[in-house]
Parts: sequence; C-alpha cells; structure tokens
Amino acid sequence: DSGGTLSLATVLCLLVALVALQATFNRFKSVYMARLLYDFVNRVRMNLFESIGRARWGVFTRIRSSDLDHALNGDVDRVQVAAFSLLMLTQATLLLTGYLVVSLFISPVMTSFAILIGLVLLVALQPFRARASAYGRTLTGNRQDQYRTVSEFLGGIKVAKSLNVEASYFAELGATLDRMKADNIAFVRNSSLGTALFQMASVIGLSLFIYIALVRFHLSLAEIVVLLLVFMRVAPRFMDMQLQTQQVLINLPAYASMQALQARFDAEREPTQSMAARGARLSLETGLNIREVSFAYGEGDARPVVSDITFDLPAGKVTALIGPSGSGKSTIADMLLGLLEPTSGRILADGVEITAQNRRAWRDQVAYVPQDVFLLHDTIAANLRLAAPEARDEELWAALRNAHAA
Ligand SMILES: Nc1ncnc2c1ncn2[C@@H]1O[C@H](COP(=O)(O)OP(=O)(O)OP(=O)(O)O)[C@@H](O)[C@H]1O
Ligand SMILES: [Mg+2]
Repeated sequence: DSGGTLSLATVLCLLVALVALQATFNRFKSVYMARLLYDFVNRVRMNLFESIGRARWGVFTRIRSSDLDHALNGDVDRVQVAAFSLLMLTQATLLLTGYLVVSLFISPVMTSFAILIGLVLLVALQPFRARASAYGRTLTGNRQDQYRTVSEFLGGIKVAKSLNVEASYFAELGATLDRMKADNIAFVRNSSLGTALFQMASVIGLSLFIYIALVRFHLSLAEIVVLLLVFMRVAPRFMDMQLQTQQVLINLPAYASMQALQARFDAEREPTQSMAARGARLSLETGLNIREVSFAYGEGDARPVVSDITFDLPAGKVTALIGPSGSGKSTIADMLLGLLEPTSGRILADGVEITAQNRRAWRDQVAYVPQDVFLLHDTIAANLRLAAPEARDEELWAALRNAHAA
C-alpha cells in the first residue's frame, strides 16, 4: 500500500542521509587530524632545528653531523608515526566507547562481560607491548648506525675510491641492514603471535559469551544476534588499540632520543645578540692580541690542543700561521673568528676583549675562507648574498673582481 511505500522511501532516504553525514564527518575528521599531526610534527622538527642553529659552535665539534641528520630526519619521521598512531588509538578508544554504550542499553550484564574479556586480554598482551618498546630502542641504535655509515661513505667517497676501499663500506652498511632485518623479523614473529593469541582468546570469549547469554541469562535470539553484532565490532577495536599502542611504543624512543639531543643543544645556547651589542662594533685599527690562550675540545680536563699561546696580529698586514697538521692552526682561526671560545686566556681587538656579549657582533665583521669550501647549490650571486643579503649587483661584481674571480 502507499503507506508502506512511503515508509520505505523514508527509510531509504534516511539511509542515504546517514551515509552522507558519515562521509562528511570522515572527511572533516581526516583533514582535522592531518592538520593536528602536521602542526605538531612541524613544531617538533622546527624546535630541534632552531636549538641546533642557536647553539655555540663548540657543541658541534663534539657531535657527529650524521647523528644530527638522523635526529632531524629519521627521528622526527618516527615521531610523526608515533603521533599518528596516538591519534588512531584515540579514535579506536572513542569508537569502542560508542559501541559499548550502545550494547550497555541492550544488556548491561553482557556488556560488562565483554569489557572484562577485553581488559583481561589487554593485560595479557602487556609482554608484547614491552617487546615493542625494546624493539623501538634497538631500532634507534640501528638507524643511527645506518646514517653514520651512509654519511661517512658520502663524505669520504673520494678517499674511499682512491684507496680502493669502497667494499668495506658496502660490508658495513650490509651488516647494519642485515641486523635491522633480523631485529624486525624477530619482532614481527613475536607480535604476530600476540595477534594470533588474541584471535584465539576472543573466539573462546565469544563462545562463552553466547553460551552464558543463552543458558544463564535466557536472552532472546534477537537480543543475542544484536549483541553478537556489537561484539564482532568491539573485539577488533580492542586489537586495534593493542596494535596502535605497540606502534606508539616502537616509535616513542625516537622522541626521547631527539629530545635528549635538543636538551644538549639548548644547554649550550649562544646569548642572543642584544641591540646594544649590535651597535657596539669592535674596531680593528691596530690589531688583535692573543693572550695566554688555551683550548681543549673535550669537556672537563681534556688534553688542550692549544696551550698558553701569546702573539699579536697587526692590522692591515698579511700574517701566516705555519705548523704541522694537527698543531692547532684551524682551532686558533676558529677562536679568532669568534666561533670557539678559549678555554682560558683572552683575545682582544684593539685592546677590547672579545666576550660572550660581543662575540656575535665580532662575527658580523669577520670574513672567513675555510679549508673546505662550501657552496650552496645555487647561483654565484646567491652564494655571495649569503654574507651580504642586501648587496647590489655592482657590489657583487666588485667583490668578484677583487677576488680575481670575475
Ligand atoms: N672537533 C674536534 N674534536 C676533537 N678534537 C679535534 C677536533 N678538531 C680538531 N681536533 C684536534 O685538535 C688538534 C688541532 O686540530 P686543528 O684542526 O686545529 O689542526 P690544524 O693545525 O688546522 O691541522 P691541519 O694542518 O691538518 O689543518 C688536532 O689534534 C685535532 O685532532
Ligand atoms: Mg686546519
């Protein structure tokens, strides 16, 4: 009859509306979660980047650059995975709560029973979560080794080829990769055992559930069918929570490791250049005086590489510092540049000591041609403007002519 047709049409329309609503919500949720995730990860990466950039040069002499590369790229990528898993975990928890609320209305007793089974399983799976944590820490060490080998290989490839020792790098990387594979397979073997146990336990739980519902609580068939449907939605959510928690645990050590690195750099932050210091240019009319300067790379009572030296550098003259390799010439140059601070002793420009307060201002005035020339992968103009962003084209040409490079 027409009434039946109408109600069918209404139900179908409702169905379409419901699916449309769900699709809209899912889309909104995805965009929201992506934004949340990237806000967080970008902030984490940027904070580390800035902490590294703001630290005194001395810290860099004690840390492998491949470890920094690993922290900024590898670690932060894993932090992103951990954050994503955390979001998924939250979602699984919310969904689970929703299902449980629905089933609570159908049968409070049976719902409590299902929750109990779920909680027992979550507790029983704790050893698998502990293994995930341990695996995560192993992964951090292995990936650090991988970054070290790759960066040493790329940094020294010319030497490696000239000595015909490329193969030793292949062997080293191969060993690291094999170790990572073995660690991963051991972990997957273990965690898939957890999944299998969970599946077995949940099917046993389900059987108990049906049996108790029918025999003990005399639920109607209709009620049991609905409860079963709910149970079949709930059980995978429990497993989801376990797997997402494992993902968080695997990747959390990356967060700890990059935070520890960041703390090291924050502890050695260079004082920011105050406006007053910016105005206080040091002059260089008469020259530089180096007075009883010593320097040691290591912390504490490390062996000094420069000890107690005193000499003068007259302004407007060319001075050559000569000595065997490793005698400390570059170290002295770095101190004169204001990159390294003397461990003891003083450096004076026209009688004014270079200190933590004016060291940045001093660096603004000094130019440096390093032993290993670094060029941006860009135009010559872009490279020159690194030091003088405001320079006009004519000024660039003048500088090139002065350097006999035009
Ligand atoms: N980052 C560092 N950490 C620890 N020790 C370092 C570091 N850089 C240099 N050294 C050590 O300090 C000493 C002086 O090194 P420096 O680079 O100043 O010598 P150099 O005279 O410039 O040598 P070269 O002629 O080879 O350039 C060396 O014994 C070197 O091994
Ligand atoms: Mg040198």
